[in-house]
Amino acid sequence: MGLTYFKRFRMEYDLSKSAPESPPLPPAYELVPFSGDLIRAHAAAKYQSFRQELDANVFPCLGRRDGCLRLMREIASRAGFVPQATWLCRYSDRETGRNEPVGTIQGLQIEGWGAVQNLGIDPEHRGRGLGTILLSRAAKGFQTVGLRRMHLEVTTENTAAIRLYERLGFKRVQVVYKAADVAGV
Ligand SMILES: CC(C)(COP(=O)(O)OP(=O)(O)OC[C@H]1O[C@@H](n2cnc3c(N)ncnc32)[C@H](O)[C@@H]1OP(=O)(O)O)[C@@H](O)C(=O)NCCC(=O)NCCS
Repeated sequence: MGLTYFKRFRMEYDLSKSAPESPPLPPAYELVPFSGDLIRAHAAAKYQSFRQELDANVFPCLGRRDGCLRLMREIASRAGFVPQATWLCRYSDRETGRNEPVGTIQGLQIEGWGAVQNLGIDPEHRGRGLGTILLSRAAKGFQTVGLRRMHLEVTTENTAAIRLYERLGFKRVQVVYKAADVAGV
């Protein structure tokens, strides 16, 4: 057993005035609202996005295909699941025939907060604004169901994600620790 404590920031955003701005969707990408038949596609995007990342140590299920599917099913079946804040990003290229899920975000409602879960973009498709666009869509989804604030947790070493969240207006409000058994990782 090797229990390690990962330091994470809780970050918050006030949705009462506006949702974060986002750039236009680049060509060849599509945003798909949640439906039950997309659970496998969300799980596939989640796995591609997280398998090589630090968060796969914090949450080992993120580093496994079956773990991502289980997690996605669990999130979608929770009482506080917010389908309006759950979006899939697909990439399709007519020339090569590629058509695949490349990004995902899910939303939960917890004690009056919109809780952002597992924003992830496949490494091949990062830096094109897709993370920003998904987060903005999730924020609008939370507003649609009447939520006025949202939060998320991010590992403090995840500087790319923190930069994105702060650029959009999230504030760090608290440090929390997540224990994970990293034996064998
Ligand atoms: C964090 C993450 C979701 C960001 O996704 P992304 O699609 O690369 O995000 P964006 O493209 O919107 O923003 C990233 C950078 O690209 C830049 N960018 C935004 N639009 C762009 C565009 N149209 N063209 C080029 N670059 C662009 C942004 O300015 C940003 O730069 P910054 O690093 O200075 O902030 C992605 O890195 C990821 O999946 N990481 C692994 C999983 C993870 O850790 N998720 C967070 C869990 S809390």
